[in-house]
Amino acid sequence: MINYEQYFSRNAKNMKRSEIRELLKLTRKPGIISFAGGLPAPDLFPIDDIKEMTRIVMEKEGRIALQYGPTEGDNRLREELAKLLKRDGVTISSDRLLVVTSSQQGLDLVGKIFVDPDDLIMTSLPTYVGAIQAFHSYGGTMLGIEQDAEGTQTALLEAEIAKRIAAGRKPKFIYEIPDFQNPSGITMTLARRKEMLRIAEKFDMIIVEDSPYRQLRFEGRGEPSLIGMNSERVLALYTFSKILLPGFRLGWMAGPAELIQKAATAKQSVDLCSPPFNQSILYEYLSRGLLEKQISVIIKAYREKRDFMIEKLSQYMPKLPGLKWTHPQGGLFLWVTLPQEMDAGEMFHSAVEKKVAYVVGTAFYPDSGGRNCFRMNFSYSSKPEIEEGVKRLAEVISNWKGSRESALITP
Ligand SMILES: Cc1ncc(COP(=O)(O)O)c(C=O)c1O
Repeated sequence: MINYEQYFSRNAKNMKRSEIRELLKLTRKPGIISFAGGLPAPDLFPIDDIKEMTRIVMEKEGRIALQYGPTEGDNRLREELAKLLKRDGVTISSDRLLVVTSSQQGLDLVGKIFVDPDDLIMTSLPTYVGAIQAFHSYGGTMLGIEQDAEGTQTALLEAEIAKRIAAGRKPKFIYEIPDFQNPSGITMTLARRKEMLRIAEKFDMIIVEDSPYRQLRFEGRGEPSLIGMNSERVLALYTFSKILLPGFRLGWMAGPAELIQKAATAKQSVDLCSPPFNQSILYEYLSRGLLEKQISVIIKAYREKRDFMIEKLSQYMPKLPGLKWTHPQGGLFLWVTLPQEMDAGEMFHSAVEKKVAYVVGTAFYPDSGGRNCFRMNFSYSSKPEIEEGVKRLAEVISNWKGSRESALITP
């Protein structure tokens, strides 16, 4: 028997299989209503438009689209991306943009260019599981700061960074998802954004702003993006996965020229370039202004589904002390907090038996938090599935031993 473990690098040994992906396997059983994945609604994919753009690309420039392309990405696409950012209040030239194989690659490149083993990285709690996984694989340790309704608690962030610096270990950067955060659905207020930038300035740190959901605002006024407020201190990641389709695996990075160049160099050894074929199709799609139309279709549908899910949660969930959920103004997720003594991980198996699934809160905590929480996705399931799934979930929670105990101890 060969001991393959002995050959692994230290980085490979740091890699952990994502708990979320393991659990997602269970949720693929027939009949399960899954609120687990962060999947867009497939019935809204603009199949006819993509079919037409593909035809145009093949007729117009098949030989280019099927060839290797530049690592930085198709220049015409980068121009379109710069225009998209401009509409969002970010003035940045296209040479400060890097096309990536979706934002998960962006996170990996961030890990590659910034993270040495034992580096500290500041993040909010809870935080995106894929970022924990990416930074952890380079030996980084995430330090979490709890959020409240206004986002990451910046006073705690400042104190924690100061404490670490005093102990001789300055964190490398701050990782933040300011808009409709995955998993909590929380959006950072303007005051907190200003505070976070002030803190980054004070301690001479950069911020990695991960923004897959920003364009999916259902109501209310948006706050400026962190990169829109300071394009020298912020490296931003964007993706087409949630606003168009994840199957292209295309996203982009924006930031200071030196960081973009370093990320491009790091990308060369990963995949040489993101698929030129998909980039050409996307360029044709964007240059015709089709994305705006698509985003408004998605916003309308997801707003309805969010409202429906919240209505059904209010209708079916047992009245337990401490049981609550967020009311996100956009994005794909809401976050449920169970009474303190309940364990969403233990309950998960009963939920799967009842044929309903969510993601347990602990997946989003780099340490041991989130035990009594879980994430629900509202974009993927149909309304009848949402109603039936919430009903099943409410039954699981009502019948769970912890919930009976908590009902007993409350007057
Ligand atoms: C915050 C955040 N970052 C990055 C990603 C990765 O998405 P993709 O690689 O499809 O762009 C996701 C996906 O859910 C996410 O929620």
